[in-house]
Amino acid sequence: MTAHNKIPATLIPGDGIGPEIVESVIAILDAVKAPFEWDKQLAGMAGVDAVKDPLPPKTIESIRRTGLALKGPLTTPVGGGFKSINVTMRQEFGLFANVRPVKTIIHGQRFDNVDLVLFRENLEGYYAAMEHYLPVGDDRHGIALASGFTSRTECRRIIKYAFDYAVKHNRKKVTVVHKANILKLLTGLFLEEGRKVAEEYKGKVEFNDCIVDACAMKLVINPAQFDVIVTTNLFGDILSDLTSGLVGGLGMAPGANIGEHAAIFEAVHGSAPDIAGQGVANPLALLLAAVMMLRHVKRDDLANRIETAIDDIVASGKVRTKDLGGHATTKDFTAAMTQALA
Ligand code: NAI
Repeated sequence: MTAHNKIPATLIPGDGIGPEIVESVIAILDAVKAPFEWDKQLAGMAGVDAVKDPLPPKTIESIRRTGLALKGPLTTPVGGGFKSINVTMRQEFGLFANVRPVKTIIHGQRFDNVDLVLFRENLEGYYAAMEHYLPVGDDRHGIALASGFTSRTECRRIIKYAFDYAVKHNRKKVTVVHKANILKLLTGLFLEEGRKVAEEYKGKVEFNDCIVDACAMKLVINPAQFDVIVTTNLFGDILSDLTSGLVGGLGMAPGANIGEHAAIFEAVHGSAPDIAGQGVANPLALLLAAVMMLRHVKRDDLANRIETAIDDIVASGKVRTKDLGGHATTKDFTAAMTQALA
């Protein structure tokens, strides 16, 4: 903390709907007098446009100094262009754990009372992006190759993190999700470490494992059979979009990237270019990420206040954005939340 009891934190508005939802979330954090002292920095296309760099050194220095960031979504060019800045940041700061909780806020949907937390390994697997082409005849891109890797150390670290979380938050079961029947080494090592770690928590937390395709099916049939899921990078990316769909979609799903020396909080969704600039984006996912950030700095009091206001406003159906079946704009949502918290 600084002399005036403020916690320095980096703020990255991001691309597409990023600036709109970040503005909303900052207004709501201001309404509860959240203790953050923001250092606003650029990344993604906003960085390219301003200083021709998707991850400027000033942004890296800021996060290194604060160890804490709230980040809007960043656009990644599909196919060519620069490497994902999200992936680069996770590697730069060793953010090994991607924590993605989903919880029912709006009741009466296909599933009620969904409450699970997905832990995604954040540094390895196919997202290390070692890709290249091999020529076939005249076609220089005749074959595309990707290689992934998993290390015993990182498998153990993320799985242990998930088990520790389960103990601390009174969760009953951890499911290790893999594809060890086919990728016998790449994800077999993950399962092997999962079994070892589970032994250490025997009697405290139940353990089971599940093949990723079966897990996807089971999640959409009965999500209540899962409590904590821990899985590899690619599977975690896909399954966490799926789990967000169980509670109303991407607008409801927050995420935290946690490392030993830094933590970056963000929404699971991307920059939503299809609705950017229209003032209709749902800021809830980023707001829930900010709630996680408040809990991270041990301000559960403020986190609880915001969650209560979300329950009052969104769950009750008073104000909902279009993606949640309502008509409210981003500004309507912000106004309703700030008034409720005033
Ligand atoms: P996306 O998550 O941006 O959008 C998927 C769909 O969900 C779109 O129809 C969008 O309008 C809707 N949506 C997403 N967030 C919403 C919100 N808050 N309120 C209302 N509707 C919302 O995924 P897409 O289109 O595949 O990716 C767009 C860009 O975002 C890409 O460049 C991608 O690489 C990047 N991306 C960045 C992420 C990050 O910064 N952490 C995560 C995922 C994607």
